[in-house]
Amino acid sequence: MVPIKWDPPTDREPVPKKSQIVIVANRLPFHRVRRGGTSEWATSPGGLVSALTPVLKNRTSCWIGWAGAAGAAPDPFEHEGIHNHPVRLSRDELETFYEGFCNRTLWPLYHDAVRTPEYRRRWWRPYVEVNRRFAEAAAGQVARGGTVWIHDYHLQLVPAIIRELRPDVRVGFFLHIPFPPQELFSQLPWRQPILAGLLGADVVGFQTRGGAQNFSRLCRRYAGAEGTRDELSFDGRTIHPGAYPVSIDVDRFEALAASEAVQRRTAEFRQRLGTDRKIILGVDRMDYTKGIDIRLHAYRGLLRSERITLDECVFVQVAVPSRERVEQYGELRSHVERLVGEINGEFGELGRTPIHYLHRSLPVEELVALYLAADVMLVTPLRDGMNLVAKEYVAARTDNTGVLVLSEFTGSAQELQSALLVNPHDIDGLEAALYTALHMPPREQQDRMKTLRRALRRNDVFHWANRFLDTLAA
Ligand code: F6P
Repeated sequence: MVPIKWDPPTDREPVPKKSQIVIVANRLPFHRVRRGGTSEWATSPGGLVSALTPVLKNRTSCWIGWAGAAGAAPDPFEHEGIHNHPVRLSRDELETFYEGFCNRTLWPLYHDAVRTPEYRRRWWRPYVEVNRRFAEAAAGQVARGGTVWIHDYHLQLVPAIIRELRPDVRVGFFLHIPFPPQELFSQLPWRQPILAGLLGADVVGFQTRGGAQNFSRLCRRYAGAEGTRDELSFDGRTIHPGAYPVSIDVDRFEALAASEAVQRRTAEFRQRLGTDRKIILGVDRMDYTKGIDIRLHAYRGLLRSERITLDECVFVQVAVPSRERVEQYGELRSHVERLVGEINGEFGELGRTPIHYLHRSLPVEELVALYLAADVMLVTPLRDGMNLVAKEYVAARTDNTGVLVLSEFTGSAQELQSALLVNPHDIDGLEAALYTALHMPPREQQDRMKTLRRALRRNDVFHWANRFLDTLAA
């Protein structure tokens, strides 16, 4: 790779309007929406935006990312106090970088290979080129001695490129998805450059200690790093891998749960679904890692064996459309929709539907109203870096009722130990857990939910961001 030329600032020439902190993520915190005849910027959902907004607002800062459409990037723009610096992705890069290397190679590989990762040589170069573009944009924006915080699997080469372009800055990297063990990661034909890319950071954060441990072990084996799980030396520098479990803005979810409008909506949902029926809820991106089909099988199993009836309960599944141009996602959608149809066809009665299925994204107020209506929340991923839906449900349950059924293969299971933890591969176990959840006495619900809420309070999203940035500044 030919390094780009960049003239470092000197003491005599302070760089004007550079940012003390630069966030680099695949997507910008705002996306374009059409309202009426015009289009405008709207805040992207997700914890990252709400976590980082307060951090960014107090300093000169900017966010580097893709604006969500192929082709030329919009001009840099200011929105809600954040300076956005869009990076372009061509139509070809959308296919090879984003859909290909990111979502057909890395995504399945990092999620326990629950779908077969595809190793296509023609996807690697676009990954390198797009990473370089993001890194150059960040190097051009960060102030002397400033901080660059890079997020997620799309941008694993960025830390080393920034280090090469701007040795004066602190570089942090946080991976939002799992980091796989050696048995899986070793498959990756580009394992060495990816590890070397990450080793460009001063702090490399993971959702769990297991992820940090996998990373350190792999760096020693394949990248020539030395050291321990918590401290590596590489290229004459010290790198700190560590676990920084991401979280949510708990106050925001509590406030939404307390709002009159949301509570009115909850009452409406309950009325429509049947006030005497227990509501089981699932909320996920439509992704094969989430185990949506598995929980439908468990629900069907309980109905078939008549351990539960439609008089007692109803299932609501919200599946947010995601990565629809990637083949495996289309297949999953067909599979889930066929299952929903089969179950509704087999058990439904006129005016009584076993599964209410919504394939769309909902505003956060609607989601919180659903969380408040749900007696049981089913979160059953086969593998998930964290799973913030589980945390949102707990945050919304301010009266300490409700039962969270949670896959042990999520990052959040490590903090939310008082949930009903399940192995999603074990359908009998999942059926039993769902049955237990539906019949859990109020006292036990209260005890468990209180403990869950305490755990959540200990680590909200502000705690997460500050902890990471404090380590990076140390
Ligand atoms: O959880 C990983 C992640 O990439 C998030 O950063 C993002 O919000 C989500 O998946 C959706 O993915 P995409 O940006 O591909 O739509």
